[in-house]
Amino acid sequence: MNICVVGTGYVGLVTGACFAEFGNPVCCVDKDASKVDALNRGEIPIYEPGLEDVVQRNAKAGRLTFSTDLPTAIRDSLVVFIAVGTPQDENGRADLSFVREVAKAVAENLDSYKVVVTKSTVPAGTGKMIREIIEEHQSEEHPFSVASNPEFLREGSALEDFMRPNRVVLGTEDEASAAILRDLYRPLYLIETPIVVTNVVTAELIKYASNAFLATKISFINEIADLCEPLGADVHVVARAMGLDRRIGPKFLHPGPGYGGSCFPKDTRAAVEIGKDHDIDLRIVRAVIEVNDVRVTRMLEKIRIAVGGTLEGKTLALLGLTFKPNTDDLRESPAMAILDGLLAGGARVQAYDPVAIPLVRDEARDGVTYCADEYEAAQGTDGLVLATEWNQFRGLDFARLKDSMSHPLIVDLRNIYEPSRMRERGFDYTGVGR
Ligand code: UDX
Repeated sequence: MNICVVGTGYVGLVTGACFAEFGNPVCCVDKDASKVDALNRGEIPIYEPGLEDVVQRNAKAGRLTFSTDLPTAIRDSLVVFIAVGTPQDENGRADLSFVREVAKAVAENLDSYKVVVTKSTVPAGTGKMIREIIEEHQSEEHPFSVASNPEFLREGSALEDFMRPNRVVLGTEDEASAAILRDLYRPLYLIETPIVVTNVVTAELIKYASNAFLATKISFINEIADLCEPLGADVHVVARAMGLDRRIGPKFLHPGPGYGGSCFPKDTRAAVEIGKDHDIDLRIVRAVIEVNDVRVTRMLEKIRIAVGGTLEGKTLALLGLTFKPNTDDLRESPAMAILDGLLAGGARVQAYDPVAIPLVRDEARDGVTYCADEYEAAQGTDGLVLATEWNQFRGLDFARLKDSMSHPLIVDLRNIYEPSRMRERGFDYTGVGR
């Protein structure tokens, strides 16, 4: 089945490569010619483990092509996936201008029946808007279907999440498009992936409700962690015992500097705006955002206290800059906000991150030194802040680390170290909620 995927970002590139992997001819379209040229050279513009192999293998097999020619790609396809950015605008609403552009291009190139599917996270009601745009601008009278197939890809495990999803959600307006999309996902049938088929607006809302709930779990455990500290309770044990209740589950109960990335911050704010549009106040989601918005400030306070009361004149190591491990994404990264907060507080920072330093090195930031590894970052510092839980930070040579630091102090914002072990090693250890 000929597929066109519009947008070659985190979602579009993974979607296109995986549909090609299922054997479909796929054309990935982007308006950025330099990005398309790089992709045609087999260069992947994002850090996503395993993606380069899948892209190169399918490009070599001729199933996966990259182009800037949207009209041709639309005409050649039965299914058009819209995987363009839906960034948030100044008041937290999802900016749908790129989605509208693609809908218009589909209308102008509708030379036969097509299924137009939103893959990007779009506000409930966007499918209706796409239908209106196509009906208004279509050059020839052809039937078409609009559908929603939200992505549930986590950065750093996007391929796994696409190939072994917990569920596939299909929001369709007619049986024809439902049959076509079911057919497209048939290769997943082998591993009995549940497929939820519903109407378009319900599918759009499932995405927001899922992400808002995941963000709720994070803000919830962060608040419980804050309560654990004065009580002397251990939030890890609380989370573990909570998670043993199968109604709660163990995932997404890790406290830390708050959620970042390009999804949770955007989707929670957009959800509140969608509610406002219909006079429904999503108070819980608003509270989740409020808790997350003060998280970095609380972490900076924790660090200030741990280093003796002031950041002024201190030299600190900062391990991790990305918003989570196994990605190079810095969007709304709490670690970057912590870096800027430490510098603003008068500290000098020696920062290390396994992949992100080339992406930030040229930004103007006085007082930061980017280091080649964890040990260089720790050299001569008054303390070390662990901000992003890259695996390589878990098994460091702590004796070497301790010897190189002026003060053997660790502020572990992701609780990846065992407090008693760290104290036995002679570190002054501070975690989150422990
Ligand atoms: C998320 C959703 O998980 C995914 O389904 C959706 O399609 C896109 O948004 P992603 O943003 O890539 O994926 O990363 P995720 O692993 O969900 O983490 C999001 C943020 O929450 C990160 O900043 C992470 O550090 C933080 N987090 C996650 C916590 O602070 N605690 C947790 O327990 C889990």
